[in-house]
Amino acid sequence: MIWPRNSCLRLLLLLYILFSCQLGSAYDIVRDYSGSTFFDRWNFFGNWDNLTLGDVWWLSKADAFAQGLTYVNSAGNAIMKVDNMHNVVSGQKRNSVRITSQDIYDVGSLWIIDLKHIPFGCSVWPAFWTKGYQDQWPVGGEIDIIEAINLMPNNQMALHTTPGCNHVPEAQQYQSGATTQTDCSLSSGCTVLELKENSLYTGLAAAGGGVWATQFDVSGIFIWFWSRPNVPASISATTASTGVDLSDWGPPSASYPATSCNIPEYFSAQNLVLDITLCGQWAGLSNLYFPSCGSGTGTCYADSVVGPGSNFNDAYFEISYIRAYTTGAPAPTPNALVSISTSAPTGLPTSLLAPSKPTASSLFFPGSAEGRQANMMLAIAAILLVGFFNLWL
Ligand SMILES: *[C@@H]1O[C@H](CO)[C@@H](O)[C@H](O)[C@H]1NC(C)=O
Repeated sequence: MIWPRNSCLRLLLLLYILFSCQLGSAYDIVRDYSGSTFFDRWNFFGNWDNLTLGDVWWLSKADAFAQGLTYVNSAGNAIMKVDNMHNVVSGQKRNSVRITSQDIYDVGSLWIIDLKHIPFGCSVWPAFWTKGYQDQWPVGGEIDIIEAINLMPNNQMALHTTPGCNHVPEAQQYQSGATTQTDCSLSSGCTVLELKENSLYTGLAAAGGGVWATQFDVSGIFIWFWSRPNVPASISATTASTGVDLSDWGPPSASYPATSCNIPEYFSAQNLVLDITLCGQWAGLSNLYFPSCGSGTGTCYADSVVGPGSNFNDAYFEISYIRAYTTGAPAPTPNALVSISTSAPTGLPTSLLAPSKPTASSLFFPGSAEGRQANMMLAIAAILLVGFFNLWL
């Protein structure tokens, strides 16, 4: 009389255990950049912006800290900013910061950045992006996760590659953003405009910040954005040492499926980059600068960079954390982190090649497809278990 009830309870318990396995992490954490150690594992550029020809001098680490352009604030968030304290005379550049991760991350990685504030203002061009760690650009690829100029209200995402990697029009229906360029080898890259509100400008901070996640997978590259009120519970619940699950993320803002871009062919292991430049080859283009910022004197530089620093009071990142994850691999141990510094060009600092075990299970919604597959397997296991218990009893 008691036994069947007991077995039912046992069965429920077993099912509960089985289904709670599904809540386990799809991705294991491999690196947390946050708080007082945020700036520990980055290289500072230490030269003027000779890349986009912006009107900034990207300081060395020592100078950036000495001048207060990088620090950790009382809330424990990392601040990285443009100099807003000094007058710049014509001919000089303004000080700013560009940092590149010493760690590199291969296909099979996922990155999450949580921002409280994003730089904006006339001439301001912030970016959080990744680039192939040792190749001659654009060999090795580039993933632009956050990029904006001047007073743009909506973030723009992009991939940059050598010819042959495209953003298929069909991908449009699997993303919430708007595809604006499909050939990733064009100078603009294959761009997708964020359509969700408060991804940039004053809106981001006003909403309490926002979170971006980027999945760098053999099945494609997928970028999500959530304004603070919409950040999924699976992400809000993460800590510096826990993994993360994609099953409640919904469709990405930008979806670049591998069907029209063979990811490992166009993308090598990536460095993360965070920088702020001024004017240069995008923000400084007169057809883009003048409509949003207006002026009398004639150039982005003369109008915005020269003069007092007050134009740059909002030109700062406030970063709660950047975290890097890897899929399918066992929990990270020092042994699981493969140093590639021996095969890398000289000068490459201690580096981390996140173990890659890409999933081939999915095309457009890797997270949810994985989730569906896991659900199906669990359902089959549950049916078998029920059958087994019925026979046994
Ligand atoms: C730009 O500056 C960096 C850092 O000093 C240097 O390594 C690189 O060679 C320069 N690139 C160009 C194109 O001048």
